Amino acid sequence: MKKFILKITAAGAILASFAYCSNTKQITGFATSLKDAYKNDFLIGTALNTQQIEEKDLKADALIKQQFNAVTPENIMKAEIIHPQWDKYNFDLADKIVAYGTKNNIKVNGHTLIWHSQLPAFARRIKDVDSFKTFFTDHINTVAGRYSGKIFSWDVVNEALNEDGTMRKSIFLDKMGDGFVTEAFRLTEKASPGTELYYNDYNNEQPKKREGCIALVKKVQAAGVRIDGVGIQGHWHLGRVPFKDIEESILAYHALGLKVMITELDIEMLPRNFQGADVNQRQASNPALNPYANGIPDSLLQQQATDYANLFKLFLKHKDKITRVTFWGVNDGQSWLNGWPIPGRTNYPLLFDRAFNPKPAYHAVMALKK
Ligand code: XIL
Repeated sequence: MKKFILKITAAGAILASFAYCSNTKQITGFATSLKDAYKNDFLIGTALNTQQIEEKDLKADALIKQQFNAVTPENIMKAEIIHPQWDKYNFDLADKIVAYGTKNNIKVNGHTLIWHSQLPAFARRIKDVDSFKTFFTDHINTVAGRYSGKIFSWDVVNEALNEDGTMRKSIFLDKMGDGFVTEAFRLTEKASPGTELYYNDYNNEQPKKREGCIALVKKVQAAGVRIDGVGIQGHWHLGRVPFKDIEESILAYHALGLKVMITELDIEMLPRNFQGADVNQRQASNPALNPYANGIPDSLLQQQATDYANLFKLFLKHKDKITRVTFWGVNDGQSWLNGWPIPGRTNYPLLFDRAFNPKPAYHAVMALKK
């Protein structure tokens, strides 16, 4: 016993205090974490940045292990990082997140194999069709192959559609035609047979884009290639969450025999002049567009709590169709929405504040399960 106590590290001490919390659960009968509260419904995930994957941020680390049972790397499995040159791969951080998942019994979703954004410069410069196909095939075989049997799922293709449901004019469409989506699923299935395979997009709950997404899935299925699910990213805005479109989309994707996931959930609190999550789209900086740099009124946090509660009510109603709900970040200070589409703003889109304290939205989501 003495030996054990001496071996406790700082991180261990934090975890020990959370172990105490789970005892509280037995005493009170209330769950003390999102993952426990929703354990019979769907996985609760978060995106992890590099610091978090490296377990350098002790507070974040303890909170992640306490609250979440699924993780998605926010950037480090994207092609520009994992495959920066034709014959060079960087697997260090990807290996770490996969080991982190195994060690902590947390499911890892690979994000993402085929995406037109955050592509390495060498891939953008490839002119010749055959060389491009070689890059495409090698990338999937090498990356998906390395984590075969070790990773739970892959976002095989990300954001292949335009808002009107037609195929996006990406380098993949240009070089390989619209069969690139089916080809990506076919190659991934071969390289990593036990892994769940998903198509992921933003705004694919919107009717026109949803129709395009359904057509895309049907094409993969008609080719006899496996696709297991559709991810709806879920980058939504305060007071404007499209509940009806979301519900219709959950039903429509489920009717195709697919699992549905909400993969990058956040509810943005700041204004901007366009919708969606195209990372290449930006807006000019302007102080009027950063109104809560010194704090946000409680009334807005309450409104956000209502939006989140209504979303989770909807997810619970369809828990037989939804397998995972993942937030795009651990706390407000770490959200990508502080830097996009306008740099240097102070946004409040998640369930935990900058000090890792639960916000009204957290309590509202937990209250649904009491
Ligand atoms: C974002 C990351 O959060 C940022 O750190 C990065 O600078 C740009 O990409 N849709 C996706 C995610 O599928 O990969 C994007 O993540 C957000 C939009």
